[in-house]
Amino acid sequence: MPRFIALIPAAGTGSRMNNELPKQYLSLAGKPMIYHALHTLCHSSHIFRVFVILAPDDHEWNRYDWSSFADKLVVKYCGGATRADSVLNGLKAMQQTDGSIDKDDWILVHDAARPCLTIFQLDQLIDALALDEVGGLLAIPVADTLKRADSNQRVMGTESRNGLWQAQTPQMFRLGLLMDALSKVNSAAITDDASAIEALGLDPRLVLSDAYNFKVTYPQDLALAELILQKKETN
Ligand code: CTP
Ligand code: MG
Repeated sequence: MPRFIALIPAAGTGSRMNNELPKQYLSLAGKPMIYHALHTLCHSSHIFRVFVILAPDDHEWNRYDWSSFADKLVVKYCGGATRADSVLNGLKAMQQTDGSIDKDDWILVHDAARPCLTIFQLDQLIDALALDEVGGLLAIPVADTLKRADSNQRVMGTESRNGLWQAQTPQMFRLGLLMDALSKVNSAAITDDASAIEALGLDPRLVLSDAYNFKVTYPQDLALAELILQKKETN
């Protein structure tokens, strides 16, 4: 039976967050941000192992105690210049670390910057895709009206939001397919894993998620993430 292995790319700098500390380490509900996604992934009974991919010069990781995740956690300092490079380097390191990991095992790539992922969303994704030919991702239908801007920031027109979805993570694909896809794309031109799969001519499946699993990107996102995490704790 194929296994489910999580990979968290966490080698970014969080430039849009405007903070010297890389955003995956910013304090959120009393823990570094990445702790929350790790907690959900490591506590899922489906997930066999969780790989965290850090920048080669990361000096923050070792400041914290990660021992509560020790049974599943593997840390690799092999992040690259882009998210796609970090994921591909991570997949190669994964194969070198554990020879039993098979090309048909499922890889769930999850952003360190999505701390509000729940076990429920994770189970929905795995249930929907475990028998899928291609794989897919959590996503939500676009809710807002979409405007196209000209170079003066004036509205050129209104775009139909019909059939448009916002991609989230985890994005779940088989190891062999994902490595093949990521090694063929221009890594600077894509911002998620599904794009690389699409470039092979395949159609990843969209699995309905919700807005709570948003990506913390700008400083004002921190307060919202904290509220969602507090609500989760009291449920
Ligand atoms: N990431 C990575 N390696 C990179 C760039 C990004 O592992 N070279 C990771 C980030 O650490 C994050 C995830 O990919 O967990 C999603 O990326 P994003 O939210 O864009 O984070 P950053 O690239 O760090 O932020 P920004 O784009 O604002 O600089
Ligand atoms: Mg980025």
